[in-house]
Amino acid sequence: MDVLIIGSGGREHALGWKISQSKSVKKVYFAPGNGGTSENVNIKQNDIGKLLSFAKDKDLLTIVGPEEPLSLGIVDTFEKEGLRIFGPLKSAAMLEASKAFAKEFMRDANIPTAKFAIFTDAQKAKDYVRKQKKPPVIKADGLAAGKGVIVCDTRDQAIAAIDRMMTKKDFGAAGNRIVIEERLIGEEASFIALCDGKTIVPLASSQDHKRIFDGDKGPNTGGMGAYSPAPVIDSDLQGKILKHVMEPLIKTTKKRGTPFKGFLYAGIMVGENGDLQVLEFNARMGDPECQPIMMRMKSDLYDYINAAVHGRLGSMPPIQWKDQSAVCVVMAARGYPGRYEKGKAIEGLESNFGPDVTVFHAGTARDPENRLVTNGGRILGVTALGRDARRATDNAYSAVRKIRWGDNDHYYRTDIASRATAR
Ligand code: AMP
Ligand code: GLY
Repeated sequence: MDVLIIGSGGREHALGWKISQSKSVKKVYFAPGNGGTSENVNIKQNDIGKLLSFAKDKDLLTIVGPEEPLSLGIVDTFEKEGLRIFGPLKSAAMLEASKAFAKEFMRDANIPTAKFAIFTDAQKAKDYVRKQKKPPVIKADGLAAGKGVIVCDTRDQAIAAIDRMMTKKDFGAAGNRIVIEERLIGEEASFIALCDGKTIVPLASSQDHKRIFDGDKGPNTGGMGAYSPAPVIDSDLQGKILKHVMEPLIKTTKKRGTPFKGFLYAGIMVGENGDLQVLEFNARMGDPECQPIMMRMKSDLYDYINAAVHGRLGSMPPIQWKDQSAVCVVMAARGYPGRYEKGKAIEGLESNFGPDVTVFHAGTARDPENRLVTNGGRILGVTALGRDARRATDNAYSAVRKIRWGDNDHYYRTDIASRATAR
């Protein structure tokens, strides 16, 4: 079987790296891919017509990485043409594409989540904020590349956030409607599972670091690093997440006639006394969580995705994991998530990193001389295995220190996985 992976990030490189190790897979195409992926096809991730012709012509099984094509209905289009594709239908991808939809869904399905209200009128939203006892979280309803959430420390910040979203339109149409949510306190973790509409097969737990600076300071980014397993998710908590979050979600989506097939990602806040609340759903694999998860997976990813596409996950055994930790440190362009430069030649990638390290590419490209150059905000996901979180972290950072570009133009956090190593 040949496979097509849609997207161009570290997540897609890691999925392709893993699936190409399957005995059942001959060739993996990436559309559009990046400087680290081979067999790139020059089709944009939102050009559904061209992607469809390509996949049809070559009879491929398609895996969708990012949310954009999912929210555009790529799975609906491919399935109508009888093609095999792993991802949710547009109606199920709404769980990520609209935060208001997700919150109302959780209320219906009885899934624990923060108290909320939905507004399309800025004045009413501000009046509501003024009546709250504590400063809330303001969320743009639509997709905003992980940047449409503002966690506020004061009510004035919340009022300013409403103005940014609804009046100044900083997030475009995504901010026409907003969700105002009670601010939760606790430790965040990601719980990701494979679903075929009926059955849930959990992946290993993980945690990411969303903020740009050490100590989880500064603005949110797409993710500056991740590790697996997440010590905060013990087997007791995993049981609770399955029972109170994943199972009600699968049941309710099925009942509504929009069964969920694909990677289902729940962002969970674990409170001090072990209670859990859902912060968000994503209808896709996490990036960078995917990178450490793929490094730890022993089972054949293709077998599971193929089973999910055919609705046969119920007959698959649990996934086998390496009894090791994996840590991914994201190397970004200095200035990200604000302005940054592109086109810097990356040095040090030819170093001998040892067998425990894999460097996944994200914002990289080949220049006319075939040199690897920077081509985005998040550039590389340097990922390493180790006996425990401490050793995996050391292995990842020894590799990171061998890589650079431009005149000190690379940036990375120095405290990835510190919550795991502290435990
Ligand atoms: P979301 O895209 O909804 O997960 O929000 C992005 C990030 O904002 C989350 O990963 C949290 O760090 C933070 N966040 C979102 N909702 C809340 C909340 N209700 N309380 C505290 N932090 C939140
Ligand atoms: N790393 C967070 C996400 O993929 O949404």
